[in-house]
Amino acid sequence: MVEYALQTENIKKEYTISGGIFHGKKTLKAVDGVNLSIPKGSILGLVGESGCGKTTIAKLILGLEKKTSGELYIAGKEISSMGSKEIARIIQPVFQDPYSSLNPRKSIAKIISLPLRAQGLANGAADIEKKVDDIMEIVGLAPRLKHNYPNQLSGGQRQRVAVARALIMRPEVVLCDEPTSALDVSVQAQILNMLLDLRSELNLTYLFISHDLAVVEHIASHVAVMYLGRIVEEGNAEDLFSNPSHPYTQALLASVLTPDPELGLPEIQLGIEYPNPIDPPSGCSFHPRCSKCQEKCSIVAPEAVIKSGKLVECHYPDNF
Ligand SMILES: Nc1ncnc2c1ncn2[C@@H]1O[C@H](COP(=O)(O)OP(=O)(O)OP(=O)(O)O)[C@@H](O)[C@H]1O
Ligand SMILES: [Mg+2]
Repeated sequence: MVEYALQTENIKKEYTISGGIFHGKKTLKAVDGVNLSIPKGSILGLVGESGCGKTTIAKLILGLEKKTSGELYIAGKEISSMGSKEIARIIQPVFQDPYSSLNPRKSIAKIISLPLRAQGLANGAADIEKKVDDIMEIVGLAPRLKHNYPNQLSGGQRQRVAVARALIMRPEVVLCDEPTSALDVSVQAQILNMLLDLRSELNLTYLFISHDLAVVEHIASHVAVMYLGRIVEEGNAEDLFSNPSHPYTQALLASVLTPDPELGLPEIQLGIEYPNPIDPPSGCSFHPRCSKCQEKCSIVAPEAVIKSGKLVECHYPDNF
């Protein structure tokens, strides 16, 4: 039987936002019924354009935001019955910007050991030092750096510090939200390869969020493509990249990849802009941008179907 490190069942996160003085309050469905199952030891890549809800999913999983509805299981336990310390013991994050996510006033050793102290798991100074030394070696940081401060490190070294901090308590799951987007391309590859090595060494499970399809292709065993709060296609990475079924995935893959992180997803030639999530399109929310749109698509929201081994939310997958 497959054991899952993380599972979500129809999770939703709605934000109530002001629509301006004449429009009262409006609901923004940031995550709108997402099902994800991440088997232990696997790497799920979550991709999609800016604003589709990737970080919101991360925040729900980390317990930083409360879901509006649905169920979320971490190592088989529903998150509502877990405290923040318990969640943090199982799952640790690595965020995009290794500079702003590291406290500039703390030494590298202090930063890396923070989770131990926060959990009350520190057994004296000698124990902390040994654990810091061990994890620094594992992530490839020279011991001399431990008395340095974040501004004395390169971008790649800082991201190694963020990974060391995430791993010092040996969590089961690492949630990476754009962990290499702020890095130079050559450094990106080093960090990605390190994450891959660590997965086998430490038996980790990753949820890997990125707008960069090349990065996801390099690292993920499974991929979920997100659009306006929903997963529109999900499957084995090889199948999804070689034979995409959803017109959105096809457009993403056909687009020219760019190494510039500032640009986010490259120009995807989808005709019109990404829709306003406060006022999403009727029927299939992708229909106004879909070159293969049929009459039904603007009226009825598609249900997920299995196509070429993948789950696809489209009325006409592969039909063109
Ligand atoms: N606290 C909040 N209050 C209101 N709306 C929010 C809040 N946080 C996120 N949103 C909205 O929810 C949607 C999803 O945001 P999210 O940050 O999850 O996107 P993302 O996919 O991570 O984008 P990016 O690739 O730019 O990081 C966006 O429309 C965003 O404006
Ligand atoms: Mg984000």
